[in-house]
Amino acid sequence: MTTWPVASERLALRPATPDDAHDLWRIRSTPGVSDWLTRVPGSEAEETARLAEPDRLARTVVLERDGRAVGDLMLLVHDAYAQAEVADLAVDRQAEIGWVLDPAHRGEGLATEAVRALLGVCFDGLGLHRVTAGCMAANTASWRLMERVGMRREAHTVRSGLHRDGTWQDGYTYALLADEWRASRSL
Ligand SMILES: CC(C)(COP(=O)(O)OP(=O)(O)OC[C@H]1O[C@@H](n2cnc3c(N)ncnc32)[C@H](O)[C@@H]1OP(=O)(O)O)[C@@H](O)C(=O)NCCC(=O)NCCS
Repeated sequence: MTTWPVASERLALRPATPDDAHDLWRIRSTPGVSDWLTRVPGSEAEETARLAEPDRLARTVVLERDGRAVGDLMLLVHDAYAQAEVADLAVDRQAEIGWVLDPAHRGEGLATEAVRALLGVCFDGLGLHRVTAGCMAANTASWRLMERVGMRREAHTVRSGLHRDGTWQDGYTYALLADEWRASRSL
């Protein structure tokens, strides 16, 4: 059970609403931000319509600093793999997470702080078993963030993803388990 907003030292995390569309569009439209994202943002109207889609709204968490949106996180809860006889026990026990931070706020540890808070939501609030994140290997800022929050590199896939510049890029998958999270908190 999670009570929103979730506060960290400098940030508040809360579920997105359709009213966040302008800020999230502005951040994604800043040069360089979408270099490694799945999609370059379209017009503000297109992005407003996309954010209003129920699935997208449900998986978007807004990061606020002093009441202003400075980025967003993805929290996509899904079933873990399980054999048929125990499939019920794996429903909604895993999540994939992701992140975008306004370049004006980078280099201050805000993404690290936000993702740590999100992992708290995942493990302490939602009772998840495992959290994963992925990126193209060349997205150094992203996988360095995964390592700062204690995630483990579990896969290095070779030329597995096509970048919009036409090159096939290596990919990394990182993961963290609930008991690893708890152990890291008790240090
Ligand atoms: C990935 C992304 C969120 C990382 O942002 P970031 O600013 O590098 O990450 P943080 O906010 O955690 O800041 C970490 C940096 O601040 C420094 N820092 C300063 N104070 C800090 C603190 N209290 N805690 C942690 N780090 C701190 C760290 O040393 C680090 O700097 P370094 O990279 O020079 O070593 C950002 O690059 C981004 O939005 N990229 C575009 C979107 C994207 O690619 N998303 C992922 C798609 S897979």
